[in-house]
Amino acid sequence: SAQQMLKVFVTRRIPPEGMKTLQKAAGMCNLSVWDSDEPVPRAELLKGVAGAHGLLCLLSDKIDTEVLDAAGPNLKVISTLSVGFDHLAIDEIKKRGIRVGYTPDVLTDATAELTVALLLATARRLPEGVEEVKNGGWSTWKPLWLCGYGLSGSTVGVIGLGRIGLAIARRLKPFGVKRLLYTGRQPKPQAQEVEGEYVPLDTLVSESDFVVVSCSLTPETQGLCDQTFFSKMKKTAIFINTSRGAVVNQEDLFKALESGQIAAAGLDVTTPEPLPTDHPLLTLKNCVVLPHIGSATYSTRGVMAELSANNLLAGLRGSEMPSEIKL
Ligand code: NDP
Ligand code: DGY
Repeated sequence: SAQQMLKVFVTRRIPPEGMKTLQKAAGMCNLSVWDSDEPVPRAELLKGVAGAHGLLCLLSDKIDTEVLDAAGPNLKVISTLSVGFDHLAIDEIKKRGIRVGYTPDVLTDATAELTVALLLATARRLPEGVEEVKNGGWSTWKPLWLCGYGLSGSTVGVIGLGRIGLAIARRLKPFGVKRLLYTGRQPKPQAQEVEGEYVPLDTLVSESDFVVVSCSLTPETQGLCDQTFFSKMKKTAIFINTSRGAVVNQEDLFKALESGQIAAAGLDVTTPEPLPTDHPLLTLKNCVVLPHIGSATYSTRGVMAELSANNLLAGLRGSEMPSEIKL
């Protein structure tokens, strides 16, 4: 009966694989979707979630106490279409006994691949080169024009050797990387596969030619890459971030790039997102900024949508979720 139908709010139009999965459960759910490619306005989120048993959200939706209060006591599952969950007020969610699903593993390859693409594009100055071809800056072959830095014989430092960090290391090693350093909360046995050396953060920062950030955003990692951090990097080093923008102090990064304290930076994530088009970082030739496209392959986004839908449905049924965050 209508009374027993579980109310579900989906905060965005998601890929068809996800919608199909949700629609299969039409007999159990009363589905309400913010049917747009743009984020749901806050007021609509608060309205849409009222009385919901399940919420399927994106990383652009801040799920805090206000949203949880607006949802009320029915809410038993939150499923996010992402592996990162820094947009969720986890402590508060845990207190209320709400289960949380996310999308680890299925996006690891796509995100690692994008990180390698961004690293190479930044180190070998691809966006600058493309621009010079178009604007007539390409006059002739010149010995030192548009030179950058290569991976062969280099030291790469990975901050956060998790699923994606390890996948990045695996892909970079065959380029001839000499040393692979990593930091984290504890050494990882799986680092052996890439001959990774567990080192203190300071060692990683000062010895690496490429510093790659792939940790999760936590109170501990927020603002980790600041002036002190950049001042320890080599002048010839490249900084790459595909984790979350807030791990970086962007004003400090700007100063480090502008003053030549570091060679270049490649960012897939920023604060805020989108980065305003008049942001100082966008005036720099040695800063390559991408619009958070780490997991953006058609197949990955399809699988993410399907997994997030299955997590939601399992949570509603009270059964085991394919990917649940252990709170
Ligand atoms: P994992 O949880 O597997 O990896 C996160 C890693 O960060 C873990 O190894 C963790 O270490 C480490 N970490 C935590 N705290 C610290 C710290 N203080 N210093 C150094 N390392 C730390 O997650 P994934 O690899 O699957 O994803 C990582 C992040 O990448 C996501 O949280 C998300 O923010 C981002 N992401 C971005 C995408 C994009 O589009 N650009 C796409 C997908 C993910 P430990 O194991 O010891 O806790
Ligand atoms: C995530 O999943 O956390 C990414 O940022 C988007 O895929």
